[in-house]
Amino acid sequence: MAEDQAGPAGQEDNGEGKPGDEYRFAAGSAEADAAVFDGELVDEPGEVLGTIVSDDRSPTFEEILDVHEVNPHEDPQSATVRDVLPFPSTYAGEGESTVIYRLVRCEPVEELPAADGGIGDPTEIRTLPRAGDAVRRPRPEMVTAAMGFPSDPDQGLHVGFLHSDSSIPVTVDNGAVQRHVLIVGGIGSGKSYTRGVLGEELHRHGVPQVNIDVNGEMIEAARQLGGRNVRPGNGFTLPLGSLTREDLIEAVSGVNRGTNIETLIGYTFDSLSRQIAQGRRSEFSVDELVAEIEVQAPFLKMEALNTLRPAQQRVKALDRLKYIGRRFDWVGTLKPGAFVNIDCRGLVLGDLRIITAAVARDLQNLARQQQIPFTVLSIDEFHLVAPNEDKLVSTQVLREIARIGRHYRLGLVLTTQSPADVDRAVLKRMLTRFVHTIERDQLDSLRGIFADAPPEMIQSLAKLPRGTCVLTGVAETIRHATVVDIRARVTHHGGATPDVFGDLRTRGWPGKKPLSEIIQEEDRDGEAGDAG
Ligand SMILES: Nc1ncnc2c1ncn2[C@@H]1O[C@H](COP(=O)(O)OP(=O)(O)OP(=O)(O)O)[C@@H](O)[C@H]1O
Ligand SMILES: [Mg+2]
Repeated sequence: MAEDQAGPAGQEDNGEGKPGDEYRFAAGSAEADAAVFDGELVDEPGEVLGTIVSDDRSPTFEEILDVHEVNPHEDPQSATVRDVLPFPSTYAGEGESTVIYRLVRCEPVEELPAADGGIGDPTEIRTLPRAGDAVRRPRPEMVTAAMGFPSDPDQGLHVGFLHSDSSIPVTVDNGAVQRHVLIVGGIGSGKSYTRGVLGEELHRHGVPQVNIDVNGEMIEAARQLGGRNVRPGNGFTLPLGSLTREDLIEAVSGVNRGTNIETLIGYTFDSLSRQIAQGRRSEFSVDELVAEIEVQAPFLKMEALNTLRPAQQRVKALDRLKYIGRRFDWVGTLKPGAFVNIDCRGLVLGDLRIITAAVARDLQNLARQQQIPFTVLSIDEFHLVAPNEDKLVSTQVLREIARIGRHYRLGLVLTTQSPADVDRAVLKRMLTRFVHTIERDQLDSLRGIFADAPPEMIQSLAKLPRGTCVLTGVAETIRHATVVDIRARVTHHGGATPDVFGDLRTRGWPGKKPLSEIIQEEDRDGEAGDAG
């Protein structure tokens, strides 16, 4: 903003704010980018949108970056001295003094057309505030319009309230999930809770959801929403044909890369997969793969028993994978409002990746063929399945879904505390982001995803309380980066930190012992004896 400064302009009630809220913008400050508001008008930086009504009556919205008082009468030293010596200050206070004022640095974000009384569709800034323009507190519906939130919370995803003004609901356009959602933040910052809120909102609209639940946090919520909890091998299985060759070789333990055994297994797997693609079979089992190895071996001249038998034995060992079985009935299950929670607690990383990749690929295919309605696939701790490794199948699948984006009726909601460990191509394409407080070293990896968030807002990330986040996105869905207090959930959040100390007490420990009692009794006597 231009070098401007505003000062008190009168005490009349303008009908929009409290009496005394109207101030005027004034030029001529020595400090750039400054305007002065009434202290009442400004709660805290980063948030409240002051409205500046320019002379053509079209309000512009200014996002407040920081606020401080200018008072030439005070400095830390004289304030301290005055505390000690009985000399009261005698200068005129703020509001009367001509030299004491507050400086507010702000940035124009939107302009509302004058014709609609300031509630119409916002446009980019066309008129910069001028000296003498009135500064007013915006009405809540003006803030809603300027932020681009749907005016009716039922028309979008009601995720929370403005951090600065808890009376203003934050409603995200439904289209935000089609552009994929990233939820990041440090440990315990509220990511999974936010995921739960999104889950509730999506459910309200009937969006089917499939959740890969690494920590078992959504089990209760899934049940409450009338969904299904399944475990790999117990209610959830996938056919061998859902795997890729890479997945399969990964899953077959003890196969060295580049050996004849690997080639034979891979070749046989490919030929069966091809038969599925050609419609000549629908699925194949472990036993069928074992049998087929013998059929295919002669084509590769690998029928020597010291290749053939070990290849078959290794494949046969896939029987230990409980999650290999029939294909899950996605089409029958993913009706409007469905919630499938795949409880993946305790899986080894390799299996988690295979399952996630297979689920993602199945959903992607079904979405493409429009056999399922728009569905959201959500993955907690997704750095585990989409790390920075090009070769990893799960990374490749998620990259593909993220790339195709909103065209395929499949939305991703990915949660992580380690964006630095995540594949960049996936991260970059998550166009709706909830950024909770996060460690500085992880912040670097988020560069480029902050849209129009001013540096002050990004700085504030280090101090955001739990459950508060910066929300950014693309202009069509989230017009301006904003700080949001995530709303309370109605479903149960399974991520509460366990009360491990309470648990010890229920197991018989009496509670914290006095120091004098922690040494075994016989030793205690000894100590006392020594001392005496
Ligand atoms: N918006 C909120 N409102 C109320 N409580 C919240 C909110 N967000 C988080 N909490 C509380 O903070 C705790 C931690 O939140 P959560 O489990 O979502 O953190 P997280 O970032 O997923 O942590 P982790 O990194 O361990 O997975 C929750 O148990 C919940 O009680
Ligand atoms: Mg979590």
